[in-house]
Amino acid sequence: MSTDSSQTSNTKRLQGLVAIITGGASGIGECCAKVFVKQEAKVVIADIQDELGNSLCRQLGSEQTISYIHCDVTCDSDVQNAVDLAITRYGKLDIMFSNAGIAGKPELSILSTENEDFKRVFDVNVYGAFLAAKHAARVMVPAKKGCIIFTASMVSVNCPQAPHPYVASKHALVGLAKNLCVELGQYGIRVNSISPYVVITPQARKTLSMPVNEMEDVICAAANLKKAVLEGEDVAEAAVYLGSNASKYVSGINLVVDGGFSLTNPSFALAMKGLIS
Ligand SMILES: NC(=O)c1ccc[n+]([C@@H]2O[C@H](COP(=O)([O-])OP(=O)(O)OC[C@H]3O[C@@H](n4cnc5c(N)ncnc54)[C@H](O)[C@@H]3O)[C@@H](O)[C@H]2O)c1
Repeated sequence: MSTDSSQTSNTKRLQGLVAIITGGASGIGECCAKVFVKQEAKVVIADIQDELGNSLCRQLGSEQTISYIHCDVTCDSDVQNAVDLAITRYGKLDIMFSNAGIAGKPELSILSTENEDFKRVFDVNVYGAFLAAKHAARVMVPAKKGCIIFTASMVSVNCPQAPHPYVASKHALVGLAKNLCVELGQYGIRVNSISPYVVITPQARKTLSMPVNEMEDVICAAANLKKAVLEGEDVAEAAVYLGSNASKYVSGINLVVDGGFSLTNPSFALAMKGLIS
């Protein structure tokens, strides 16, 4: 049913560019690391899953092309080290792809949402992205070029009854990207976010806690766009576009990769169904 979009694209769209991908050891970040390397970028994977990150690097190439660094995005010095590694090993930083994120607890009620969960989700999703952008800007501003991308989520433009900390954090990310776009535009730095619909990754599995095939059925049934399934590679393609020269005048957008899901609102139609025979 799905199509492999990476098969149909050419393979040098990121040639000569250096990228950091936070949360690059698994899920969407892992797909992005694979696609970025295929597009000839040099990549630093910054994550806290050391074994996964290191084995992905071994799978994808040598240290000349891809490196792993332990980096908790909530720790200033870890993020600083990740940026410094890109500079010392590859000479520069062109793309900061701040993708690391957590869903938090699957609690929908404000009354039952734990204060600590709210703080933790904001710490990783928003403060982590802030640190990524700050350390990227440290080297991009003097270079007068660069590109910062955040992975937000479709919940940044839609509220399909997801946990408050997660939804609020993704709205905050989009706001941060837009404000950064305004500040950093004068230095030739572009800042954008990507907001995907559901992709079956370890995070999605943890959040939805049901067998993968059932999860796929639910996700496809709820999707607006039929005959296609959103995959990590599709998000990676959006990131390649935003990271490459193809989007050289695109800044401040929230690229929603959701097949139109966020435009739907079935509640009126559902309520009418019971009334019209
Ligand atoms: N999967 C989806 O359906 C979906 C949809 C929209 C947006 N997103 C967003 O995409 C991003 C990637 O999510 P995913 O689904 O691939 O999840 P995932 O859990 O598979 O990957 C997230 C990665 O981030 C890393 N990470 C978590 N906390 C970190 C920290 N403090 N420091 C560094 N790395 C850390 C994890 O180790 C993991 O490798 C997240 O920001 C998520 O909110 C996911």
